[in-house]
Amino acid sequence: MAITVAVIVGSLRKGSFNGRLASALKKLGPADFTFTDVRIDDLPLYNQDDEATPAAAVTRFRDQVRAAQGVIFVTPEYNRGMPGGLKNALDQGSRPYGKSVWAGRPAGVVGTSPGAIGSALAQHDLRGALDYLDMPTLGQPEVYLQYKDGLIAEDGTVTNEGTAQFLQGWMDRYAAWIRRFA
Ligand code: FNR
Repeated sequence: MAITVAVIVGSLRKGSFNGRLASALKKLGPADFTFTDVRIDDLPLYNQDDEATPAAAVTRFRDQVRAAQGVIFVTPEYNRGMPGGLKNALDQGSRPYGKSVWAGRPAGVVGTSPGAIGSALAQHDLRGALDYLDMPTLGQPEVYLQYKDGLIAEDGTVTNEGTAQFLQGWMDRYAAWIRRFA
């Protein structure tokens, strides 16, 4: 069964390690999966005054998530939490009240950081919001990846065999997870 998965990267920078991790995961998906990169860098800061007249970028963002059966979040850790841009994207997708694009969509959460805890606290911050947003979120395996120079090439090739196998295992579990809800 063809499945579309939205991929949201919490980092906005060009050389993002999390962007590379997202590229790696997209290569590991099953043949019937299509991944849509959903950008968040053009979203204005959420302002309830704008609800009646959302910016074009907000409408595009909501439509892209709605068109997907599930969402993979790939996030760095900023000051022991998720980046503000990612939180803003969650807020933008959650409104207007009763029309959240998140509810019921099975989520996967992964992330990487050069720091020893590999974005663990950002992921837990994010998981708390996803619970509230009613997204069934894969619990295991957790991916707290400590990024080392050269671990993932720009094109998403994982250079360490053990890491490649681990990420394949994660994708297999996420694929099975999303199929339970599709
Ligand atoms: C960081 N970084 C960081 N790392 C970490 O492990 N825990 C943290 O709390 C933070 N806090 C933090 C705040 C801010 C504002 C920045 C810019 C960075 C370091 C961060 O993990 C590193 O810059 C990563 O490379 C960011 O991910 P991308 O952009 O490579 O995907």
